[in-house]
Order: sequence, then C-alpha cells, then structure tokens
Amino acid sequence: MGFRTVVDVTMIELAEIDDDNLAAVQAVAVSDRQRDFVGTVREALEEAADCPEGNPWSRAVVVDGTVVGFVMLSWNVTPDPPEIIGPWFLWKLIVDQQHQGRGIGAAVVQAVAAIVKAEGASELLTSFVPAEDGPAGFYARLGFVPTGDVDAEGETIVSLDV
Ligand SMILES: CC(C)(COP(=O)(O)OP(=O)(O)OC[C@H]1O[C@@H](n2cnc3c(N)ncnc32)[C@H](O)[C@@H]1OP(=O)(O)O)[C@@H](O)C(=O)NCCC(=O)NCCS
Repeated sequence: MGFRTVVDVTMIELAEIDDDNLAAVQAVAVSDRQRDFVGTVREALEEAADCPEGNPWSRAVVVDGTVVGFVMLSWNVTPDPPEIIGPWFLWKLIVDQQHQGRGIGAAVVQAVAAIVKAEGASELLTSFVPAEDGPAGFYARLGFVPTGDVDAEGETIVSLDV
C-alpha cells in the first residue's frame, strides 16, 4: 500500500491512546499556520485533562499500522453553552501534515458519526476558527451546516445530522 493511498472509512482504526502509541500521537504535526487554528496534540491532551466536564474521549487515528492523526470528542455531555457544546461534540481533529488530502479527515468524521449514532446521537457538533484558510470548507464539504451559534472563543459552531 503506497504512502499516498486514498483512505476510506474501512481503513481507519481509532485506537485508544496508551504508553505504546503516545509518542507517535504527540508527534502528529500540522503546518505552522494550521497550528494557529488547532494547536498541538499535546495541548489538546492537556486541555482534556484540565476540562473533565467536557468528558473527553480521545483516540489515535491509525491507518495501515501508522498513527496519522488524532481525534477528540466531548462524549455525551450535558450542554452548557457557550463553554460546553454537546451532547456530541467533535472537539479536535488533527491529520498529520504529511497525510492530509488523502481522505483521512473525511473518513474519521464518518467513523465518528457512526460511533455517536450507535450511542443514540442525532447530530454531531463541532466548531472552528472562521479564518479564510481554516477548516470551514472541509466541514461544509462533509455536510456540516452552521447552527448560528458561536462558542466561548467566538468559533463558528456547525452541525452534521448523523
Ligand atoms: C482539516 C483536516 C482535518 C482535513 O483533513 P484531511 O485528511 O486533509 O481531509 P480529507 O483529505 O479527508 O478531505 C476531505 C475533503 O475536504 C476537502 N478539504 C480538506 N481540507 C479543506 C480545507 N481546509 N478547506 C476546504 N476543503 C478542504 C478536501 O479537498 C476533500 O474534498 P473532496 O472530497 O472533494 O476531495 C486537516 O487538514 C487538518 O488536520 N488540519 C489542521 C487541523 C484543523 O484545522 N483541524 C480542524 C479543526 S479542530
């Protein structure tokens, strides 16, 4: 399987983060510009530890045995907007710079949508920095639509029917 193979949802493994893969997960890196929007995996894990009320659920994104990304949800939280958005909130999605554009981000969203649907969710929420070169187009492409609300940081909140 070549490095630039297009990835579909059947090729995505969402693995629990443990001592064996933590270093690889922390090594997931985006461009400097993207880091301004999304931060680092290390910061996301610190945010999760500091925000238990967000009920963080985090996983390594693994394709073909390689960690290629990181995903974190707020898992079935009681919404308390604008701080806590939920019940099912895609808190962080980071695909390593070298693996972007292969369909991995889309496949992770599809996998997450199936997981939350199986838990009884009707919608998956997320938010993003409304910058021109940010992920707005990515989420729109996947069918997320603005709810009209913003979160505590002024990020645009969007929703996907699952
Ligand atoms: C946004 C991100 C998760 C997308 O992941 P990816 O694996 O590169 O995306 P995919 O290859 O699955 O792209 C799926 C579709 O969205 C489109 N797309 C991807 N990024 C886009 C962007 N920034 N703007 C517009 N469209 C975009 C792709 O062209 C593709 O369209 P297609 O189906 O017509 O070919 C990834 O670029 C990333 O990690 N960015 C930095 C972190 C970030 O901003 N995360 C989101 C906020 S938490």
